[in-house]
Amino acid sequence: MYQFWETMLFRTGGYAGQPWPKHAVLNVGAAHFDRWLILFRNTLDEHFEGPKVAEAKNWAASIGDTFQRRMEKKKLGLWANFSGDAPNDLKN
Ligand code: HEM
Repeated sequence: MYQFWETMLFRTGGYAGQPWPKHAVLNVGAAHFDRWLILFRNTLDEHFEGPKVAEAKNWAASIGDTFQRRMEKKKLGLWANFSGDAPNDLKN
């Protein structure tokens, strides 16, 4: 998790994992992501300040949206290979 955020915010390149498969198997929806985002933003504000805070919040919102879109497609049966990476035409 540390390496993920370091790589997102400081381009350190230490994270080479794939977050999506870990989330693809979860039974969560929009309400959970909304709550996750509120907790994440509050935690950032509690512990950090400066331009990277806004950047982290933007990444979190955008990646969370992507996860949610993929989950919706998976539920609709449009996602054949839901535990792996997305085929290009379904990425967004
Ligand atoms: C409701 C929202 C979310 C839930 C319930 C959730 C839950 C989880 C769970 C269960 C894991 C696997 C932990 C493990 O077994 O190692 C995980 C890993 C992870 N999550 Fe989330 N997550 C959520 C949202 C997000 C979002 C929005 C992001 C990105 C900004 C994110 C980034 C990650 C990363 C980077 C990992 C580690 C993946 C790896 O092992 O390489 N998660 N999350």
